[in-house]
Order: sequence, then structure tokens, then C-alpha cells
Amino acid sequence: MSNSTEVKNNIIKVGWECPSNIALVKYWGKYGRQLPCNSSISFTLSHAATRTFMTLGDEHSQHSPKVNFTFEGNENAAFQGRIEKFLASISEYFPFVLTHQLTIDSSNSFPHSSGIASSASGMGALALCLCDIDDQLNKRAVYNDDFYHRSSIIARLGSGSASRSVFGVMATWGKHQSIIGSSDEYAVPMAASVHPKFHTFHDDILIISPKEKSVSSSAGHHLMEGNPYAAARYKQAGERMRQLLSSLHTGDLDTFGKITEDEALTLHALMMCSDPSYILMEPNSLLVIKKIKQFRAESGLPVYFTLDAGPNVHVLYPDQYEVEINHFIISELKPLCHEGKIIRDKVNIQGPSKLI
Ligand code: DP6
Repeated sequence: MSNSTEVKNNIIKVGWECPSNIALVKYWGKYGRQLPCNSSISFTLSHAATRTFMTLGDEHSQHSPKVNFTFEGNENAAFQGRIEKFLASISEYFPFVLTHQLTIDSSNSFPHSSGIASSASGMGALALCLCDIDDQLNKRAVYNDDFYHRSSIIARLGSGSASRSVFGVMATWGKHQSIIGSSDEYAVPMAASVHPKFHTFHDDILIISPKEKSVSSSAGHHLMEGNPYAAARYKQAGERMRQLLSSLHTGDLDTFGKITEDEALTLHALMMCSDPSYILMEPNSLLVIKKIKQFRAESGLPVYFTLDAGPNVHVLYPDQYEVEINHFIISELKPLCHEGKIIRDKVNIQGPSKLI
């Protein structure tokens, strides 16, 4: 990581690239100030990422955030409003957001209309920039464990899943008895507890539909409050975390795959039995799932699926079987994707990178 943050004429300019992540045990349901009702764990991704540049400009006397926001070079009033609101909510951590003009430009590595959620990478990148500027101002800019720990807390306040994006390989978020140092307030890195075969895992993201989802994750979390299965679900998530962590440690692919797939289907089942109920899967999501199960049964190869809160299917498999599984994906699954769109991603070992 370079240490070449620009500090010219009292202007501080920083830039960070933060990856997205895909949860295996899902965070679904929250309480209080962005705290999770159960612990979750995710793979950090390599290609799906957000790059954010932030400049701390002149002082002003407005005493509320004053942001000049562009997304991929274009002004975006809706995003700007959301960022200003978020900054106001975290001004206790960063008083400078109330007193200095901020110029922010963000861009995503994945296509805008791909249906890939950008809140994890977007809020992760924003949090890293804010912590970096704060450290520059306080003359303590060292990018150590404490820096990423604080970034995870800030990222969580922006979007729960973003807390996990500031660490490479895998991260868990939420208190769990079998994870030392785990907390509802921040994620902890898991790379050291995970078998090397998971460090090179593939995640091919099948774009089934690029449409924006009809119910946001935030609304989905809140619907868990009235879900009659909520208590059983939170208990189940804790137990699945324990089993998944053990399989990640030993490299037991069968258990890894079973828990991962059960979690994806549970997430969507919870949406279907919310009040009001809703369905985010599309017919082709189900077809893809069935084909993956069938191919696995016939070939004996370790290929598994998971889904986010949307119709797109993530196909997970070890690097060792890339050729055979890719052949299957191209011939059987690609025709079921929107315009044949697939984003070929992999686990990100390095985590976020400092750009300037
Ligand atoms: C299904 O982190 O997007 O992807 O905290 O309201 O911003 P907010 O929600 P968000 O929810 C992500 C839900 C999920 C599962 C997960 O990533 O763990």
C-alpha cells in the first residue's frame, strides 16, 4: 500500500478501492443502530469493487455536511443527499464533515445495470476514505489493524454488509461464541482460520435480471421484525455459523456447500413468508439452481450456489475444477442469463487498496 496521500495547501485528498462481498451465512434482520440480529460471514470479491476519491476542501460555517458528489464523473443529486444524511449521522466520529467542504467521486468496477448491489463496496470505500482523512488530520496515518477495525465500524453504520468488505478473503460480522473478538459493531477478518482452498475460490455471478429489486434490503431487514419465524431463524443462523466455520477450517466442501445453499434458500423463504410477502427470484434463478444441483449429482464436482437479496445467482467452486465447471456454466447456465451476462469473480486475498 502506498503512503502518498496528497496534502497540498491544507487540502487532503485520499482514494480507496473497496471490494464487494458475498455472504454465505446471511445477515437478515437488524436492530438498534445498524446491529445484526445474527452473525454472518462472507467471501470478499476481487472484481466487483467501488473506487472512491475524497477531497477535504475549505472550511465553511454551515454546520452540516456540504458535499459535492459525482458518480462516475456525473452529478447525482439522489446519492449526494443520501451521503450528506449519512455523514450528518456519523459527525460524532468525524467533526470535519460538518465544517469542511467534501468533494467525492465514486465509480464501480461492475456495470451500473448489472443488478449487483453496490452498498457494501460503496459504503466500505466511503468509510476507508473518511478514516484516512481523519488520520491525516490527526497525524496518525498508519494503515494497520486498528485502521481497518475503525473503518469496519463506520462502514457498518452506512450499510451492515459493508462492515465485512474492508477485509480480504473472508470476514464475519456479529457476536458469535466460537469467534474470538467477534462483535455486533464491526467485522473481523477470517483469512487465518480458513483452509487455503477457499482463498482461491471462484464466484461466477450469473446476471439473471439487471433490474433494480422491488424491495430494498433495508426494507427486507425491517420486515423480519414481524416475521413469525424470526426467532427460529436467528437461532439457526448461529448454529449454521458454527458448522460453516468448522468446514471452512478443515476444508470440508460438502458441509460448506450444504450450509451455503441452505442459507440462500432460507433468505428467500424468509422474504416469501414476510408480511407483505415478496419474491425476488425469477424463473431462471430456479432453473439455474436446479441445473447446478443436477450437474453436481451427475459429475460429483463441488459446485454450489448462493443468492443475494435479488435474482442473480453466484456460482461458487474451487479453483482446481475451473475448466470443467466453466464448461458447464457456459453451455448450460449462460443461456439462462440476461443477455448471457456473467461476471467472473474470485475471492480477494488482499482486501481494499489505497489509491492515493
Ligand atoms: C442479503 O447490508 O444491504 O446481502 O444494513 O440495510 O444496508 P443494510 O442492508 P445490507 O443487507 C445485506 C443483506 C444480504 C445478506 C448479507 O450480505 O449478509
